[in-house]
Amino acid sequence: MRKARFAIATLMTVVLASAAIADAGAAPTSIGGGAYTEEQAAAGKALFDRSCSTCHNADYYKTVFQTWRGQPLLYLFEQVMSAMPADNPGSFSDVEYESIMAYVLQITGFPAGDAPLSYSNGTMEEIAIEPAS
Ligand code: HEC
Repeated sequence: MRKARFAIATLMTVVLASAAIADAGAAPTSIGGGAYTEEQAAAGKALFDRSCSTCHNADYYKTVFQTWRGQPLLYLFEQVMSAMPADNPGSFSDVEYESIMAYVLQITGFPAGDAPLSYSNGTMEEIAIEPAS
C-alpha cells in the first residue's frame, strides 16, 4: 500500500513537472498543449463519423478524459486501438487511429498544434490527459 502511494506521488510529480515544461513552449506535455495537427483531425473526421459516432458522442469523450486525467495519452490510445470500434476492434492502421484520436481531441475542445500526434515516435507517453474545460 505504501509503495502504491509512493508510485502515485511520483507519477503526480512527473505530471506536474511536465505541465511546467509545456508552459515554456516545448513539445506538448498535455493534451491542452497542441498534441495534434488540423490536418490529422480533418482526416480523422470521416473515419470517426463512420465508425465511432454511432456509439458515443463528444460528451462521452469528455467523461473519458475526466476519468483518465493525469495518465499518459498513450495508455488511452492503446486501449482504443485494442478495443475500438467495439464492433470491429483493431480494424484501423496506426495512422488512422492517430487521426481519429486527433479528431476526438478537436471535438472535445483541445487545440491543434504544430506537430502531428504520433504513436511510433514515443512522444505520446509524455502527453498527459487532462479534463476538457
Ligand atoms: C458498437 C459500439 C461502439 C463503437 C462503434 C465504438 N465504441 Fe467506443 N465504446 C463502446 C463501449 C460499449 C465502450 C465501453 C463503455 C464503458 O465501459 O463506459 C466504449 C468505450 C470507449 C472509450 C473509453 C475507453 C476506456 O477504457 O475508458 C473510448 C475512448 C472509445 N470507446 C472510443 C471509441 C472510438 C475512437 C471509436 C471509433 C474508432 C469507438 N469507440 C467506437 C462502444 C463502441
